Amino acid sequence: MSPNQVDKDGKIVPDFLGALVEGQAPDLGMPPQLCLFEGNLDPCTIVIFGASGDLTSRKLMPALYNLYLSGALPKPCCVVGVARTPLSREEFHGRMQAGIASQENYDPERWREFAAGLDYYAIDYDSQASFQGLGDFLKDLDGRHGAGGNRLFYLAVPPSLYQPISQRLGQTGMGQEAMNGQGWSRIVVEKPFGHDLKSAMELNATLHQSFREDQIFRIDHYMAKETVQNILILRFANAIFEPLWNRNFIDHVGIIAAEKIGVEHRAGFYEQAGVLRDMFQNHMMQLLTLIAMEPPSRFEGERVRDEKVKAFRSLKPITDPSSAENLFLGQYGTGEIDGVLVSGYREEPGVRPDSLTPTFAVMRVFIDNWRWRGVPFYLASGKRLAKKLTQLVIHFKEVPHSLFANIGLGTIAVNRLILGIQPEEKITLTFETKNPGATVCLRAVTMDFNYYQNYRGPIMDAYEKSLIDVMQGDHMLFWRQDGVELCWSFFSPLIEKCESCTYLGKLIHPYKAGSWGPEAAQDLMRLIFSY
Ligand code: BG6
Repeated sequence: MSPNQVDKDGKIVPDFLGALVEGQAPDLGMPPQLCLFEGNLDPCTIVIFGASGDLTSRKLMPALYNLYLSGALPKPCCVVGVARTPLSREEFHGRMQAGIASQENYDPERWREFAAGLDYYAIDYDSQASFQGLGDFLKDLDGRHGAGGNRLFYLAVPPSLYQPISQRLGQTGMGQEAMNGQGWSRIVVEKPFGHDLKSAMELNATLHQSFREDQIFRIDHYMAKETVQNILILRFANAIFEPLWNRNFIDHVGIIAAEKIGVEHRAGFYEQAGVLRDMFQNHMMQLLTLIAMEPPSRFEGERVRDEKVKAFRSLKPITDPSSAENLFLGQYGTGEIDGVLVSGYREEPGVRPDSLTPTFAVMRVFIDNWRWRGVPFYLASGKRLAKKLTQLVIHFKEVPHSLFANIGLGTIAVNRLILGIQPEEKITLTFETKNPGATVCLRAVTMDFNYYQNYRGPIMDAYEKSLIDVMQGDHMLFWRQDGVELCWSFFSPLIEKCESCTYLGKLIHPYKAGSWGPEAAQDLMRLIFSY
């Protein structure tokens, strides 16, 4: 149906372009398409190691409860929390309920139903017998609930426990699908996947002693964000973007993940990691590859991951991290966030007073291939910045010739396509128009699409989506071993050079909490991002 027609019920279908410019939702009366979750998951038992930790109470348990409420969990689905702390089943329920009771959708009756399938097992991570006991406990649950021997092991523990847990699971037969009462066995590993290339390879080798690659799910919650998933749909389900998506039309790409929060209570981890390991080696690389990768022949896990790996393989190594053009590092000092005075990084609990850990970085990356040769990708991320903002900005090239120069309109703003990931989940295209009136005067305007406009269905958060995908055995939104190792091959030498250089202190520029980063990075930040 073409714009401004009347549909079969006599309803006027709005002009598509006009509606977008006005920021209204065009209602084309089309049924929702591309709903990829088909339900009917295998019954299974979800075993969460690290059940007394933050990740379990803040993310995993709420995600499972929400999935239960929306009817997305398989039937039956048992959840077993595993941790060192000796807790009774009731005590564990009490702890988990406390986290969920503050949610808007908390319903005591539904919680009781959900908690009927929630158990706890206290473990000694050093003891084979304790793992054997867990195996027996799970078999007993299978017998009572009929979860079919399917097991999802989630490692929500500190990284130092990844290897011992996966080894013990292997030694006690829980990683082997044939021995595990004919059901499937999958393991979910949280980032960081290693601290550098060597440790990532060691971790992969240990995981592979007990699990095949297709049983391993390396989770990166950025990939499962709705708006991040949408990038491939935008690029490959539309004919109008791809012809322009290359070095002939794109001048540069900016990818920013700015956070207002500081290091919080995670100094122990963050002091060892810094922003490059915490945000760049994983989330920023995923965002980059979604912009840079070639179209896979089919929308299918291994094909998508193959294309990502090809993009990682084309990353041009940064040989001189001391050049501010390549890498600009910063560390937050005291400042104000939302009118409240906040401490600088070095005053945070657990941080060394002379710490040289970067909390901010801007990096220029090139992808050396046919499509992207010479196009800079600027990646920026930092803590304690002015606002929470994750967005990708495609800056197109200038028009080849300004025919308005003779009437004093020499500078024409370039077109930008802005993919807002969070908090604003929207796509914006900027372009020039004529300002109404007698004199010709250019006006930059935007076409905006808000991601949830005209959508009233359920919305899955990133952990919900990831858990469902593991239960479905779909690897598309998870890291594959070769991708992890390729990204570390890019970052490890760079980070090592930075950390071993005697003038590291000079590379790290201080910035005020609540600002947009170090003073000297501002021109670059403004050029790249629309803040
Ligand atoms: C995590 C990092 O992976 O991502 C954190 O370890 C960071 O330091 C977080 O705060 C950001 O995630 P989000 O979804 O809030 O942008």
